[in-house]
Amino acid sequence: MERTLVLIKPDGVRRNLIGDIIKRYEMKGLRVASIKSVYPTAEMAKEHYKEHIGKDFFEKLIRFLTSGMVIAIILEGQNAVKCARIINGSTKYQDALPGSIRGDYAFDETENIVHASDSTESAEREIKIWFPEIC
Ligand code: PPS
Repeated sequence: MERTLVLIKPDGVRRNLIGDIIKRYEMKGLRVASIKSVYPTAEMAKEHYKEHIGKDFFEKLIRFLTSGMVIAIILEGQNAVKCARIINGSTKYQDALPGSIRGDYAFDETENIVHASDSTESAEREIKIWFPEIC
């Protein structure tokens, strides 16, 4: 059993996609182990994306993630990290295949609906940021 951290970003919340997004993970057999709504601080957002500090899109990414409510989810299941990323689709909206969340809904390089951890190590680090009370 593996766990991963998924965020429904502010654009996904604003567009009323929460239910549709969670259903896609559940249909694949992933279980919602914890879920909460959060208005992230800039500090949380910077810690979450700290590997991208210094990149030209970093400040824009932080402004976006802190622009509204985020749904933070711990998903559990077999190969949860890989499965969640496949369900999300390619980071670049123009490469995301139809049937994936980004393939179906994303049309912007910043506002791309969802985030999922890229490894089990990242998942454990990110879960500590979004769910400090359960680590
Ligand atoms: S990189 O440079 O290849 O490591 O970046 P990448 O893995 O493609 O993306 C890392 C996260 O940054 C977001 N991103 C952007 N945000 C705003 N503007 C631009 N131009 C941009 N490019 C990438 C991207 O959505 C990734 O966020 P997450 O939440 O991890 O999907």
